[in-house]
Amino acid sequence: MKMINLQENYEKDYQDDPPIQSYVGCCTTARNDYVDLIRALNNAAIITETDLHGTITSVNAEFCRISGYSKEELVGQKHNIVNSGVHTKEFFELMWTTICGGGVWFGEVCNRAKDGSLYWLHATIFPIFSTETNEVYKYAAIRFDITEKKKQEFALKHKAEQYRDIIDITDGFCRVDADGRFLEVSNGYCQITGYSEEELLSMNICGSDNFEGSMSRILEPEFLMGRVSKSFETICSRKNGSKWNAEINVSHSTLNDGSFFILFHNISERKEIEANNENLRQQVNQIQKLDSIGRLTAGIAHDFNNVLASILGYNEFNKDICDDMPDGALKVELRNNVIQVETAAKRAVELINKMMTYARQKTNKKSKDTKPTAEIIEEVVNMLRSGLTNKFAIELDLNYKLHIDVDSTDMHQIMTNLLVNARDAMKNKKHGVIKIQLHNSHYDNAHCNACFKTISGEFIELSVSDNGMGIDKELQSSIFDPFFTTKDVGEGTGLGLSVVNGIVRNAGGHILIDSQRGVGTTFKLVFPLQTE
Ligand SMILES: Nc1ncnc2c1ncn2[C@@H]1O[C@H](COP(=O)(O)OP(=O)(O)OP(=O)(O)O)[C@@H](O)[C@H]1O
Ligand SMILES: [Mg+2]
Repeated sequence: MKMINLQENYEKDYQDDPPIQSYVGCCTTARNDYVDLIRALNNAAIITETDLHGTITSVNAEFCRISGYSKEELVGQKHNIVNSGVHTKEFFELMWTTICGGGVWFGEVCNRAKDGSLYWLHATIFPIFSTETNEVYKYAAIRFDITEKKKQEFALKHKAEQYRDIIDITDGFCRVDADGRFLEVSNGYCQITGYSEEELLSMNICGSDNFEGSMSRILEPEFLMGRVSKSFETICSRKNGSKWNAEINVSHSTLNDGSFFILFHNISERKEIEANNENLRQQVNQIQKLDSIGRLTAGIAHDFNNVLASILGYNEFNKDICDDMPDGALKVELRNNVIQVETAAKRAVELINKMMTYARQKTNKKSKDTKPTAEIIEEVVNMLRSGLTNKFAIELDLNYKLHIDVDSTDMHQIMTNLLVNARDAMKNKKHGVIKIQLHNSHYDNAHCNACFKTISGEFIELSVSDNGMGIDKELQSSIFDPFFTTKDVGEGTGLGLSVVNGIVRNAGGHILIDSQRGVGTTFKLVFPLQTE
């Protein structure tokens, strides 16, 4: 087989070496075409020949141009004069093995120019066989400058690496098409959602209920049309149904295929802290509010008590004067007035006592009662039963073994206030029922409606239910505020539940409310379990 002898002075070659014609497989009429081809190749390609030891025997002008060496500087040198140091020993070993074995080697090679700059070539290196011996006697290389293409590739690779870095620092990444079908998902995204890559790639981000519908926002026309990115927070579900809070950033992909990049950032921890802070803020507010109202109430009650003591004292004098008066209409009228003043003043004293009870809620009063709580409750109910009304039933379900550490006077206050409230809530009811229960209960992360703390564990629970008008959700956080009432002037002071709350708090307990408008209300007073 004949090979082309690629020399820069190709025309001379052509004249000296007729077999070239046979190699290109052309007939004699192709002579001019062949000359043109060689000329074109010489202009476009970088061409060199070396002997069997890699010593350069011939170079074309393109090789000199790209390497920066002159022909004289190159010919006679080993080809490794242009080695860049970029490739490994194995790389060159493979190349030499291929061409020494008579094969053709293709590949991308980085060379170093005389000025030290690097350039990239796509090279085809092949052996040339002697016509006489049919042995390889030299090697030729035809190379094309691909430096620009490589630069673009490196830039793209760099971009891709940056992109990977972004993916790695986010908790999850996915790419979806314009219909929401997953096209790509990161490992992080699989981990956080609990789905395998395979499962996700068969799912649709908008169709799945894992994002509570919020993902359909990416399909909103104004977003699809625009080139802006979109960020929002949402609650996502994992495969196992558990929830996590995500901050999501959706942007049009740079691949220009209408797909979207979606980055997920797990913000569950931050959300939890925010919620706890909000809860803590509510608790502090409530404590401050109760504290200032408590102090105000205590001051008013104290001064009022003094005024009432003097009213009642002077009224006693009037009573004595009245007794000494001669009988007659005047005496009867005066006596009646004295009794009215006494009744009104005593009612005022009762009210003051209520205010005092509320105001002293921070004292650490400990119960001295040993009476079972159930017995005290029954006592109160029997006392109040007739005073309430016979229009409704009172049902008791009390565990006698349980004891709440609240003394009987305070237990009376609690029961009286809750029962009177229940009665008032059922005043328009034909068949009102009040249920009182004392039993054990267990709560996990329940919310105290009075102090807003979250409670968990075992408790003794005293509950009072009615099937009255119920309490609106918006009012439920206000009803424990002192002086909050929805009752008409003269019918309620708004102190009942504040007093109950004060006593419950002193005993380390909490109050939970279950209420529905028009259905009824249950007040659950939960106290810590008593240890022996
Ligand atoms: N069982 C109940 N059903 C419906 N609403 C209730 C119930 N208990 C309390 N409320 C609401 O809570 C408000 C506050 O109750 P609270 O006992 O503190 O004061 P009050 O009953 O209005 O006055 P008083 O000081 O005479 O008790 C009531 O005005 C009422 O709106
Ligand atoms: Mg009340």
